[in-house]
Amino acid sequence: MKKIIALGASNSKESINKRLAVFVANQLQNTETIIIDLNDYDIPIYGIDYETEHGIPAQIQELSNLIASVDGIVISMAEHNGSYSAAFKSMFDWLSRVDKYVWKNKPMFLMATSPGGRGGITVLETAKNTFPRMGANLIADFSLPSFYDNFSKNGITDDELNNQLNAKIDAFQKEI
Ligand SMILES: Cc1cc2nc3c(=O)[nH]c(=O)nc-3n(C[C@H](O)[C@H](O)[C@H](O)COP(=O)(O)O)c2cc1C
Repeated sequence: MKKIIALGASNSKESINKRLAVFVANQLQNTETIIIDLNDYDIPIYGIDYETEHGIPAQIQELSNLIASVDGIVISMAEHNGSYSAAFKSMFDWLSRVDKYVWKNKPMFLMATSPGGRGGITVLETAKNTFPRMGANLIADFSLPSFYDNFSKNGITDDELNNQLNAKIDAFQKEI
């Protein structure tokens, strides 16, 4: 069975991005979903002084090893003031200290969602520009606008958005 990481790039316990990432990962066939929750990582905000004094936290090394061991990554970005959530950015910075190629050349399905009509498109564009230079094999990307209008526990309620997402899930499935 293939292993897929599902990550909501937020530390909200009720993260809508986590819900979307887990939903999409669970649509894949013959895969096991490994959910990463940023709240499970008890590490300080990245800082060079902390790193010099204490080194890289073991949990970060373990997460880097986990990324190296899976067959694909489904990630959905929370947008905070047009950019990464602070919790994700710190994690990303830590991971980049283990290996610049954070995403280990793994197939990636990159998404963003927000309650607003822009669906986190600004942070999605940032990640689309940056992640491939940091080892992401970017297969598909998708923005879900107005999360609470367009998502239910059974999936995307808007037909056109649902068709778009399903086509991208099919494309991703072929690459994992
Ligand atoms: C500090 C802060 C900044 C935010 N900035 C944006 C923003 O720039 N664009 C946006 O669409 N939503 C913004 N939001 C709303 C988030 O999209 C919303 O909180 C969403 O639930 C975040 O995703 P999450 O539930 O996965 O954490 C912001 C929320 C917070 C708390």
